[in-house]
Amino acid sequence: MSDTPVDTSKRTWLIASTCAGAAGAAFTAVPFVSSFQPSERARAAGAPVEVDISAVKPGEKITVEWRGKPVWIIRRTPEMLATLKQTDPLVADPNSERKAYPTPDYAKNEGRSRKPDIFVAVGICTHLGCSPTDKLQPGPQPSLPDDWQGGFLCPCHGSTFDLAGRVFKNKPAPDNLEIPPYEFLSDTRLIIGQDEKNKA
Ligand code: FES
Repeated sequence: MSDTPVDTSKRTWLIASTCAGAAGAAFTAVPFVSSFQPSERARAAGAPVEVDISAVKPGEKITVEWRGKPVWIIRRTPEMLATLKQTDPLVADPNSERKAYPTPDYAKNEGRSRKPDIFVAVGICTHLGCSPTDKLQPGPQPSLPDDWQGGFLCPCHGSTFDLAGRVFKNKPAPDNLEIPPYEFLSDTRLIIGQDEKNKA
């Protein structure tokens, strides 16, 4: 056996990329906006990542990398936010009380976010680490219930999440999507990996 330490963050990303590539390549619900990437040195150190969200339009999502993980940032529309009331009784942990991926206090609300419209979450399924696919449009579609309100589908084993990253009941994934520490530096700039309790 090798004594080389295993970099678990890289392994997670590889698993996520592989799953998404195998089963999710056909789905692109919203434009993908290219985003700021940290330097190699900052990435290696797990440093917080600053992101300019000024170009993200309502309904759009961007992905940035933090500590080897994809972090989603979505500007939710009023219509998207309205779906959360309807999914409340259908999700396994509506108030984010489970502790495996503790939700920061400022995101313990229905939208799981600091500001209702801006949703920030780690885009890795809490089952076995695949990266869920965007299924942001409501309505009937393959692999989803006919009354689908919009959210995310993990193609690996069929877990589904609402537009606040809350896992639906009776799915393989045991927990809601992780909310990373983050803060607003201004109305248009976010920092991922840093908040009141986690300062660099
Ligand atoms: S890894 Fe997502 S459902 Fe299994």
